[in-house]
Amino acid sequence: MIIKLDSVKALFFDEGGLTTDTADIYIKDDRIARIVRGGSADAAKTGELKPDKVIDGRNKFAIPGLINAHTHAYMTMFRNIADDVPFTEWLFETISPLEDAMTEKESYYGALLADLEMIRTGTTTYVDMHMTPDESAKAAFDSGMRVCLTRGLVGDTRDDEGGIRRLNEALHDNETWCDGDRLTTMLAPHAPYTCGKDYLEYIAAFAKEKGFGLHIHLSESLNEIDGVREKYGMTPIEYADKAGVFDVRTIAAHCVQLTDNDFEILKAKNVNVAVNPISNMKLANGFSNVPRMLEKGISVCIGTDGAASNNSLNLFREMSVEALIHKGLNHDAVTVSAADVIKMATLGGAKALGRENELGELKEGYKADITIMDLRNPSFTPANNLVSALIYSCNGNEVDTVIVNGKILMENKEVKTIDEEKLYYEMDRIGSRYKKLHQERKGSE
Ligand code: NI
Repeated sequence: MIIKLDSVKALFFDEGGLTTDTADIYIKDDRIARIVRGGSADAAKTGELKPDKVIDGRNKFAIPGLINAHTHAYMTMFRNIADDVPFTEWLFETISPLEDAMTEKESYYGALLADLEMIRTGTTTYVDMHMTPDESAKAAFDSGMRVCLTRGLVGDTRDDEGGIRRLNEALHDNETWCDGDRLTTMLAPHAPYTCGKDYLEYIAAFAKEKGFGLHIHLSESLNEIDGVREKYGMTPIEYADKAGVFDVRTIAAHCVQLTDNDFEILKAKNVNVAVNPISNMKLANGFSNVPRMLEKGISVCIGTDGAASNNSLNLFREMSVEALIHKGLNHDAVTVSAADVIKMATLGGAKALGRENELGELKEGYKADITIMDLRNPSFTPANNLVSALIYSCNGNEVDTVIVNGKILMENKEVKTIDEEKLYYEMDRIGSRYKKLHQERKGSE
């Protein structure tokens, strides 16, 4: 199958910086086969590429598909159920008990709803820390998105029955669903406060031996930082480092309130920091110091976290907030630019997945993961600076067509892989059940 994006404005990461250029982009099967920049195609070069389908690119803007580097897709079912409450109350008194009541089928629909939301807002890839083997994978498989499935691992010691079961579930997903391309796996020890020292060391060693990357929440709340200090006499970053977590490719979500030494470790160990500014602000956890991370050359990617703590999986909203907060906090209008943030959501995510040689850019030979925006929108008008528009003006509604692995998942705003009516019907029922459960719990307190 050959698809041609004809005369489309496209975003490129050239040596000198970000540029937008008119181009013809040829997709062959799952990859970008040819990009002809500067207007009309050179027939001699593209002769063998006879398109089966041509997408009219006039008034369209193609960008690399966005990468949500930290989320919990199934959590859409808890959207707007517990807001404006403190972090520990939110997690331990609301979300965790509801998660205990969650059925596997419900988690499938929760994840599918997340996929629908992300496709509609231009995300093509996400890193999912989930709780239900098979169901989260099945949603990812059905939606057509590119997903790194990471089953959350919780345990005390390496002999911990629950801890071993969860690890086996992660391995099961990997063997059953992952093809090493569209669906992949990392291991996800949940956090320092849910993984005992022995268990964390075991998972880190296992990942190293078997060649898995790691995905973990680190340094998210002051509560966590104080707890780890009290128990082990070090910061969560130091603790993870000591446990061997950073000896493999790691995505560390959050990383707020870091010490000087924490920054040194993250840089020295080439850790990928997934910042989640909205979740951090909403749960009053503070801010990741992204200006300092960028200054030090630490790899930064961006995620939305789950829909219970954001409450949206729209990366356009997340990118905008990320570019704005540090300016306000630091009284510095120059810090964390629009270009910095779009790179975090594309190149940064690709690197976090260990796939910077085939994801995150519109480049020949790269995977055909492309988000096409409709320039006929007030947010893009006048077209003074399309990169600025992406970060400061767009809200995600401008996303028109989404391609993942060479397959069109949404075209002219119509999502092709998900039966939306059925999904809304199921989610209405699931949502009502959790609302009732939550109210009963609150009532019995
Ligand atoms: Ni999270």
